Amino acid sequence: MAIEIRKMEPTDFEQVMKLLAHWNIAPVAPSPDLPVPERTGVAIDNAYVAIDGDRVVGVCSYILHSPILAEGASFCVDPAYHCRGIGEKLILAMRRGMFARGIRTVRSEADRPGTIRWLVERMGCRVVGTSSKRHAFGSPDVGEWTVLEFDIASLPIT
Ligand SMILES: CC(C)(COP(=O)(O)OP(=O)(O)OC[C@H]1O[C@@H](n2cnc3c(N)ncnc32)[C@H](O)[C@@H]1OP(=O)(O)O)[C@@H](O)C(=O)NCCC(=O)NCCS
Repeated sequence: MAIEIRKMEPTDFEQVMKLLAHWNIAPVAPSPDLPVPERTGVAIDNAYVAIDGDRVVGVCSYILHSPILAEGASFCVDPAYHCRGIGEKLILAMRRGMFARGIRTVRSEADRPGTIRWLVERMGCRVVGTSSKRHAFGSPDVGEWTVLEFDIASLPIT
């Protein structure tokens, strides 16, 4: 069955949270011990999902920082579905949606070296810096984020 890429709907929420939890990137509620978690939610209106039948197998979302700047967030694919082009399709769908609403620059943070390499070599991102993780989040093997940017107008997005 073909994988469908579409906007996230509220009914996808539970499966999306499970997928994010698998990669240790599920949102965390602020608390006295952790007042500023890495992620506190998923903006459903800004999220895209990959669907196989009734199963959510991938997700990506973004946070709007200004009318032209967004930050990619909550991006992952079910490991059973890796290397089938789903991650790329999710990013391209999101970039098209961003472009349509006027966003021209996307910032994102990644930790796994293979993901960073892929974002640079395949998805056209450039490394612009690093930032420390505020708490355990994402890969337990990496303590900092590599910050990447992508100029949406710089590559074909269809
Ligand atoms: C990044 C991710 C979403 C890519 O999803 P995907 O559906 O497998 O992506 P695609 O099929 O479009 O592209 C696969 C390519 O990504 C590369 N890749 C991406 N992440 C990788 C990683 N962590 N390790 C090794 N290779 C990786 C592979 O080399 C592969 O290339 P190939 O097809 O030539 O073998 C997926 O690896 C993932 O869920 N990673 C864990 C979560 C994560 O790192 N999220 C990003 C920021 S927090």
